[in-house]
Amino acid sequence: MSTEIPRIPLAGVVGAPVTYSRSPVLFRHWLDQYDLPGHYVPLHVGNDDLETVLRTLPRMGFVGVNVTIPHKVSVMSLAHIVTDRATLIGAANTLIFREDGTIHADNTDGFGFIENLRQSVPDWTASAGPAVVLGAGGAARAVIASLLDAGVPQIILSNRSRSKADALAEEFGKRIRVVEWVQAAAVLAEGATVVNTTSLGMTGKEDMRINLDGFHSGQLVTDIVYTPLRTAFLDAAEAAGCQTVDGLGMLLYQAVPGFERWFGQKPVVTEATRQAVLA
Ligand code: ATR
Repeated sequence: MSTEIPRIPLAGVVGAPVTYSRSPVLFRHWLDQYDLPGHYVPLHVGNDDLETVLRTLPRMGFVGVNVTIPHKVSVMSLAHIVTDRATLIGAANTLIFREDGTIHADNTDGFGFIENLRQSVPDWTASAGPAVVLGAGGAARAVIASLLDAGVPQIILSNRSRSKADALAEEFGKRIRVVEWVQAAAVLAEGATVVNTTSLGMTGKEDMRINLDGFHSGQLVTDIVYTPLRTAFLDAAEAAGCQTVDGLGMLLYQAVPGFERWFGQKPVVTEATRQAVLA
């Protein structure tokens, strides 16, 4: 008579480099908090090994993985099913390995972005007015897609390289107005919601140089940068009387759907979660 030994769910994060990812700490925190069996490991995987690794992990008991730089776009072609929001964003950050052997690709970055705003500022509504978005890179795609989906009436988009902003506007449609990077300061005041999606202000990167005098009370200002937690961008907004939301919450909330799917418990983001990831 054979007795089936229950498998401990395994998940992880695939990237290169993956050393800096805070996801293993976050998932360990939640697994401990909810007293769940499971492991979540960092997996350093180069481009050449990506396909082989993704085909092998399910056979090793992995139920899914998060995906980080540089694989968020390339995993799309390796998945059997891609969710609408991942298709819209053009990248995936969450892969689910189904029991039938298929890989499902999802993108929860936009969900994480919006959920962070909603949980941090419960009376925030997307429909309150235009959103000013700075930057047109990978993170901007998720932010723009989720803001449009949440119902912002217009996005005013500005990026150092105008052509990238134009390309996004073309792709995402009429509700996007592109302004030159040199005009970014002049349109800041127009946003009910203002988002920095550039890497400016991140530890080790250049500071945000645009003039931030346009901030005024009544605006919600958020930064996707979370190292440091309080960027000069957020400090200027706060000093002008804006509500501010730091970028750490986006990182935490984008992990919620994967954790729930893989370990069977919807985790709650609390101050303790933030502290665990910052430690
Ligand atoms: P991510 O996936 O995090 O968005 P990315 O795709 O490399 O990273 O995009 C980085 C963003 O920060 C881009 O909008 C980039 O502007 P460009 O498209 O002109 O490169 C912006 N960025 C980076 N350094 C910048 C700088 N010194 N001044 C203005 N914008 C900058």
